[in-house]
Amino acid sequence: MKSLTALVTGANKSIGLETVRLLAGAGYHVFLGSRDRERGEAAVAGLRSAGFDAVEMVLLDVTREESVQEAFTALSGRVERLDVLVNNAGIPGQFQQAPSAASHENLERVFETNLFGAVRMIRVFIPLLRKSPRPRIVNVTSDLASLTLHNDPSWAYYPFKSPAYGPSKTALNAYTVALAYELKDTSFKVNAVNPGYTATDFNQHRGTKKVEEAARVIAEYAMLGEEGPTGKFVSDYGETPW
Ligand SMILES: NC(=O)c1ccc[n+]([C@@H]2O[C@H](COP(=O)([O-])OP(=O)(O)OC[C@H]3O[C@@H](n4cnc5c(N)ncnc54)[C@H](OP(=O)(O)O)[C@@H]3O)[C@@H](O)[C@H]2O)c1
Repeated sequence: MKSLTALVTGANKSIGLETVRLLAGAGYHVFLGSRDRERGEAAVAGLRSAGFDAVEMVLLDVTREESVQEAFTALSGRVERLDVLVNNAGIPGQFQQAPSAASHENLERVFETNLFGAVRMIRVFIPLLRKSPRPRIVNVTSDLASLTLHNDPSWAYYPFKSPAYGPSKTALNAYTVALAYELKDTSFKVNAVNPGYTATDFNQHRGTKKVEEAARVIAEYAMLGEEGPTGKFVSDYGETPW
């Protein structure tokens, strides 16, 4: 396969699906990760009927090692290298749970997807990414990951203090910094990208941005040029305080 290749997790709908659309529109051959075959195939069919032919479904549950290994085997049989990995799959968990009453089950479920899922994807897929001349990893984060913003009473989302979701994305940011440091002398670019508060199933469509806007900043960092940064926490308004 001659074209650039990309894999987006949790891409059967919402921000992930829009990211696939943008990357496919930019000429990438895109693997649309979906943990459910029917939902994934329906998403691919929708994109193909809109003229995006270079999109295919890969069955992928980021919380299951076996599923991630199977996806790696499937991709390895289709492509020689992977140029872009977007770790988009994410869940809010029980957002309203009081931190003092946070259940182990809530934290475990959220960290299993939002942190361990992304880490697992990187560990398993890095051999294919290393074959790219300019590999890009985007870890989809949130401004709810920012400890600085959480300590600013004038911040619009100051009361949005979740026991599991914010902490899982803060940990994902910290992991992104560590990974970017490990890869700093290579052609990799690894960034934590915040799509912003977006109307999706994630928040019962209360978000203020459209998925088209949210996916734009993710796609931008997925297709970053040589001069682009690595190890950053960014939003569409620029660098975001840690
Ligand atoms: N929406 C916002 O305001 C907002 C703001 C900041 C950051 N984000 C982040 O942006 C990303 C996408 O959010 P969204 O708003 O598009 O959410 P969404 O509408 O709930 O979609 C989430 C996607 O992730 C998939 N997913 C969940 N668990 C998975 C797993 N274990 N393995 C594989 N896929 C899994 C879902 O699949 P199913 O359809 O099978 O459930 C779905 O495709 C998340 O990481 C989220 O934290 C969102």
